[in-house]
Order: sequence, then C-alpha cells, then structure tokens
Amino acid sequence: MRILGIETSCDETAAAVVVDSTRLLSSVVASQLDTHGKYGGVVPELASREHLRAIVPVVREAMERSGTEYGDLAAVAATCGPGLVGSLLVGMTFAKSLCYALGLPLIGVNHIEGHIHAVLMETRDKGGDIELPALALVVSGGHTHLFEIDGEWRYRLLGKTRDDAAGEAYDKVAKLLGFGYPGGPVIDKLAPHGNAGAVRFTLARMKGNAVDFSFSGLKTAVLRWSQARDLTGELASRRALLRRNPQPTAKEWLAVTPPETLDLLASFQRTVIEELLRRVRVTAEAINARALIVSGGVAANQGLRRAAEQERFPYPVLFPSPGLSTDNAAMIAAAGFLHLERGDHAGLDLNADPNLRL
Ligand code: KG4
Ligand code: ZN
Repeated sequence: MRILGIETSCDETAAAVVVDSTRLLSSVVASQLDTHGKYGGVVPELASREHLRAIVPVVREAMERSGTEYGDLAAVAATCGPGLVGSLLVGMTFAKSLCYALGLPLIGVNHIEGHIHAVLMETRDKGGDIELPALALVVSGGHTHLFEIDGEWRYRLLGKTRDDAAGEAYDKVAKLLGFGYPGGPVIDKLAPHGNAGAVRFTLARMKGNAVDFSFSGLKTAVLRWSQARDLTGELASRRALLRRNPQPTAKEWLAVTPPETLDLLASFQRTVIEELLRRVRVTAEAINARALIVSGGVAANQGLRRAAEQERFPYPVLFPSPGLSTDNAAMIAAAGFLHLERGDHAGLDLNADPNLRL
C-alpha cells in the first residue's frame, strides 16, 4: 500500500512515497534557503510563491523516483497545520485536487505528528518497534513540545515553549551574530570549537507547569553579551563571507570567528541542550516512558545527540536520521498510514489551520 505525502507548512516544498508505513521509496525536498537566507528568516509571502513554483515538479519527481503510478496510490496525505497558512494551502490544494481527480482518500496530517512518525517509520523499517508509553520531544523552528504517546498512539501534551521555540532561538542568535539563516546547523558545527563552560547562562525557571520551556531569556542574555562587546569587525567579516558564499564551510566560519564568540556559541548550545534534557528526564520518569523519541529540525543537532547518548537513559533514545529530522514529506506519508488504518479520512473541505494542535 503506497501513500503520497505532501508537506508545505513552512519553507520546504516536499513530496515522498512510502509503502506499507515503513519503507521510504522516495523523498524529495526543495529548500527555499536561497530565497529566505538574505532576510534572516522565512518571508511568508515569498514562501507561498516558491511552493507554487515547486509543487508540480517536486511531486512528479517523488512519483517518478519511487516508480509509482497514480493508480498505485492508496491515499494522499498532506500537512494541514500548524504552519504558515499561505504555504499550507498550496500543498493541501494540490493534494485535494489529486484526490478529487483520482478518487483517492485525502488524509490531513498534523506536522508535529509527522515529525514523530519519521522516527516510528525508520525504527520499524529496521525491524524494531517503539515500546509505549513513549515520550516525544519535538524540537524545531516552530515547536518545542513534549508529548506522552499512549498505547494507542494518541498524544497528550505535557509541556511546551511559552515563547521562542528552540530552533527559533538558534536562528535568532545566529542572525544577531551574523551567521545567516538557518542558525542551527552553523552553531552546531562551530560549538565544538568553543568552551561550553565559558559563559554561564541562567536556566529558565517556570512558574506553573515546570516542564514548559522558555528560550527568550537566553536569547536576551546573548543580546546583552553582544552589546557588551565591540563586534563590528567580526560581524562585517561574517556578513562579507555570506555575501561571497551563502553556504560557508566550518573552516571559513572559523576564520572570521574569534575564540570568545566560539565560547559563546558553545555555551549557548550547551544551555539549550540542558534545558531540553532536564525536562525530558523529569517527564519520562513521571510517565514511566519506555522509549524517548526526539524529532524536528533541532534533532539534527550533533551536540544534542551526543548529550542524549551520554545521559544513558534507562530506555531507548530514538532520533530520526539527519535527513528526516528537518521538514520532509516522508514523515507526513508515514503518519498518513495510521489515519488510513483508523478510517480517519478528510473531506475536500479540509481547511489549513495555522495553529493546529496535536
Ligand atoms: O523541523 P524544521 O525543518 O522546521 C520546522 O518545523 O520548524 O526545523 C527547522 C529548525 C530551524 O530553526 C533550524 O535552525 C533548526 O531546525 N536546525 C538545527 C539544526 N539543523 C536545523 N538546530 C540545531 N542544530 C542543528 N544541527
Ligand atoms: Zn518541522
């Protein structure tokens, strides 16, 4: 049974074909980095236009690479939220049109559920499974959420960010320090070159739900750090580097980043990881988790992966492969199987919901 997945919630136009909920036949991701990079963040209006341009070739490529004919499909699954409404509408409208023309069931998938299913798909593909209840940490540019997954694969929100998402904090710090967009991959590459104990940041203390997250204080602390120094020279060299080469290598970044700034990056990354893992420790114990799933763009972070490994949690810790950590459509198709099994089809009147909750 094959499902075509379509994902357009933010700045990647993606399509993928998954067979029998576990095997990925094709996954095509057209990134809009070149469009948004120079603005230091995603520009919604431009994102919608880029999706419109890319959706037809991206879906066609996913179908061709997987050797799938439209008649082979069991359903089309598309992200229906959360995300940018103009972007979501492109993928959803395309999915609806396909379903209407081909008489296929349409499945609306929550983007966050998709991130979780990337891990289930890969685990099952390797012959394993995820023991439930599980704890899922979804960390990306838009979300920092902790969910309990019960024995029926239903989700209960345990904690979430009250302000910035973890990936957003990476992006804002990178922008402030002239490292371009997105910030996560650059900071991740440079952090091992600095001393993570050099700058002491205060960990967020949450009133009310203690396992909610907050990253705005950390971002402000980095702003203060930068205001207390004269960074004019290094900022100018990094901006010049970005103009010459939109995707600099670690070596090129290192040539324009003094040790003190590397220490700041390392300390920032260590703080984000500590904020994430301390809440994981507490909630996993509270729900008696038998597995931990970490997914979303920030799950690509090497420092986070290493730290999670070193924690030696008493349950398996499951990350998606790096390519399926950031936005993709394989995860949307994979989640689509669960809904198809439950007969949970959407009507052609399905609406995009920018604030859809899981
Ligand atoms: O899941 P994703 O592709 O899109 C959203 O749903 O938001 O996540 C993108 C986010 C960006 O904020 C980016 O900076 C962050 O994930 N990211 C990383 C890394 N790779 C991507 N953050 C930390 N370390 C990384 N290696
Ligand atoms: Zn995402």
